Amino acid sequence: MAIVYHVSAMARSIAAKLLRWYDAHGRDLPWRKTRDPYRILVSEIMLQQTQVSRGLIFYDRWLKQFPNWYKLSIATNSQVIRAWAGLGYNRRALMLRDIAGQVVATGIPTTEARWHELKGIGPYTSAAISAFALRQRTLPIDTNIRRVLGRLLFGTTYPQPTIDEKIQRNIDLVLPTRGRFYDVPQAIFDLATTHCTTVPSCATCPMLSVCPSAPKFLSGR
Ligand code: ADE
Repeated sequence: MAIVYHVSAMARSIAAKLLRWYDAHGRDLPWRKTRDPYRILVSEIMLQQTQVSRGLIFYDRWLKQFPNWYKLSIATNSQVIRAWAGLGYNRRALMLRDIAGQVVATGIPTTEARWHELKGIGPYTSAAISAFALRQRTLPIDTNIRRVLGRLLFGTTYPQPTIDEKIQRNIDLVLPTRGRFYDVPQAIFDLATTHCTTVPSCATCPMLSVCPSAPKFLSGR
């Protein structure tokens, strides 16, 4: 009982600190204003290996040309590749179109496991759609989330993908069981680009007082 209380209290305090900072400094991004799984998927695929500033330009344009699953599903290779030009990795555009085809054929999945069954959807993307469109309590782990949580939860200064399982086993440390668990990963994305970069700015980080990695970075160890 005491341990359960301790874990949830820790999650509340980490999340509260993070969300207080996010409320004041979080970015105003268009895909944060929708629950439409189509729009969430488009943003997530675009943001894989693309900076947010670049994704922003393409996101609106893409949605004008391909506003829904059906419109995208009937697009030709050359139409999608032309619309994607400048984002790089054309394979992602074709994959997105093919995912749209699967959704049109079989319906919009309503669980993380069902999303994961679609060809082209990996563990990160299925968790991201579940967290951001279905608003389920799940944690998508990309390089940004891994870096921040590896440092913040475990004091691992340069976390590798092998840490993901440990992060997943410990989501209670950061995701409140009730409340704003949608916002927590969004806040982490922002922290990852402002403070918790590869070479972090710990001195001004809002998580400084609770982060076991900060003393290591600040002392240069
Ligand atoms: N990277 C991946 N998903 C993101 C999101 N929703 N906002 C900002 N950066 C992201």
